[in-house]
Amino acid sequence: MNSPKRPGHTGLPGKLPRHVAIVMDGNGRWARKRGLPRPAGHAAGVEALRDIIRACDEWGIGTLSIYAFSTENWARPGEEVSALMGLLLRYFAGEIDELDEKNVRIRILGDVEGLPGPQRDAVCRAMERTGGNTGLNLNIALNYGGRQELLRAARSLMADAATGRFDPGELDEQGFARRLYTGGQPEVDLFIRTGGEVRTSNFLPWQTTYAEMVFNEILWPDYSREAFREDLWIYAGRDRRFGMVRT
Ligand code: FPP
Repeated sequence: MNSPKRPGHTGLPGKLPRHVAIVMDGNGRWARKRGLPRPAGHAAGVEALRDIIRACDEWGIGTLSIYAFSTENWARPGEEVSALMGLLLRYFAGEIDELDEKNVRIRILGDVEGLPGPQRDAVCRAMERTGGNTGLNLNIALNYGGRQELLRAARSLMADAATGRFDPGELDEQGFARRLYTGGQPEVDLFIRTGGEVRTSNFLPWQTTYAEMVFNEILWPDYSREAFREDLWIYAGRDRRFGMVRT
């Protein structure tokens, strides 16, 4: 665990990740500590998210993937699911102008068809509106599961093989990766999870194979660009060998 001892850097490290993935955990506990209902924690989480997106934009991080709603999250109490879905609509209504102005390109990772109609429309509009942007790639995982993503890719390969459009003997890692929601994007360099749990929870299993993992105790609504900067320093201090030895 990499907190709470945090040195407080003021600048950025020279080496930055190209792709950061974040599991934004701890909203519920943040709310409970304040005697608030869990959805209040998620609403506070949106504020933290805004700051991190701005930081990625300003610091030139190419791709940010955030885990907003997993396929398992449907099993939460109905009230909380409704609150999260409402928040999602408000998020796109409230943030899309700024994101578009900042040249952010939004991509949804997950089964968009499985979202309720209004949310599906909102995310499709956001993807269409920002699809030509060339700044930060913002991947929002919604109704996302990593195993489901792998199965989807496998199914699409099998369908193409069945119709002769693709020769299974030709399949390589790049070809498989192109079939994932993140097709065309770099693999994850830095995986951050807030909230104290030390697991990846089915988030981007293929893309994080060689990612550096940083787990901290901060509850997501308390996560800030200062905390993010410290995690970038931890990343910069890691020795990435990709299975090779240091020379
Ligand atoms: C996990 O915390 C967080 C989530 C399941 C939702 C994350 C969503 C947001 C930060 C806001 C929504 C995002 C968008 C793009 C609108 P938890 O509820 O499991 O916290 P706990 O472990 O403390 O209970």
